[in-house]
Amino acid sequence: MDMDSPATGVHVAAGKGRPVALITGASSGIGAALAHVFAQNGHEVVLAARRERQLAAIAERIRAAGYRAPHIVPVDLTRADSAEHLAQALAARHLEPAFLVNNAGYGLLGPAAKLDRGEQLGMIDLNCRSLTDLSLRWINSLARHRGGILNVASISGFIPGPGMSVYNASKAYVISFSVGLRRELKPKGIRVTALCPGPVPTEFQARAGILDVHYPRGFDRSAEDVAQQGYRGLMRNRAVVVPGLHNKLVPWLPRFLPRDVLAGLVYGRLRRWEDA
Ligand SMILES: NC(=O)c1ccc[n+]([C@@H]2O[C@H](COP(=O)([O-])OP(=O)(O)OC[C@H]3O[C@@H](n4cnc5c(N)ncnc54)[C@H](OP(=O)(O)O)[C@@H]3O)[C@@H](O)[C@H]2O)c1
Repeated sequence: MDMDSPATGVHVAAGKGRPVALITGASSGIGAALAHVFAQNGHEVVLAARRERQLAAIAERIRAAGYRAPHIVPVDLTRADSAEHLAQALAARHLEPAFLVNNAGYGLLGPAAKLDRGEQLGMIDLNCRSLTDLSLRWINSLARHRGGILNVASISGFIPGPGMSVYNASKAYVISFSVGLRRELKPKGIRVTALCPGPVPTEFQARAGILDVHYPRGFDRSAEDVAQQGYRGLMRNRAVVVPGLHNKLVPWLPRFLPRDVLAGLVYGRLRRWEDA
């Protein structure tokens, strides 16, 4: 027997599930764009996030564009039992992930000592714990379908981020975990890619409390562009994908500047936000 989720109580025989691309955080922004890209490339997609109406609207847009109608699974991924809930929902429909996109995530702007502690711990639950749980849950089916995992990190994961300390640390975890897991899963033929966008105008900024956004010219990209590059990078089995020429400089910064100096530069931006 080859069942990935023994606790589901729903029996799915080895190789009997229909292969799908499971995309978390698919109700808006980069996740919704990734859902379109996977559907355009012929994948049957499962969209997961909390807001059912938004998920249904994205699914309808994909169906109306002539692609296979997506499945939707409303779920709060900060809940400890959420991965199990997703596993049961898939098994009940006789679906199994060939591709997994861990995209759901949020950030919070402000000094960590002042921000709400519970919300910051929730960020770790979503950005790190849930992503890890889902990444490890379907290894057998990912291998069976020669598929892969696309973990959405950020260029923030390459640098310390006073003003978004917990967020940057959570994304550093995603990059490190993804590259390590990638090596471990290579013999099984499973691709693992960390997608590291720079600034992308989505609902992310409002959720993070970033009200007055002034990104240096050339750093911001559209969600559609980021999704295209992420999909292509995963299919070409790239370890790390950083969309945008300017953003590609960021991973190199810690090689030239001590981390503490970098933290001071980033903190300058926080002080301006604090004064605003
Ligand atoms: N936008 C940027 O500048 C930027 C840059 C680098 C990296 N990123 C990363 O890109 C990813 C997508 O962000 P985005 O920019 O597309 O932001 P977004 O538009 O706010 O999308 C976030 C997605 O995550 C879902 N989500 C949030 N909390 C959730 C929860 N508890 N359970 C399940 N789903 C949840 C949201 O859906 P519901 O609210 O319906 O649950 C939404 O679908 C995130 O990991 C983010 O860190 C963004």
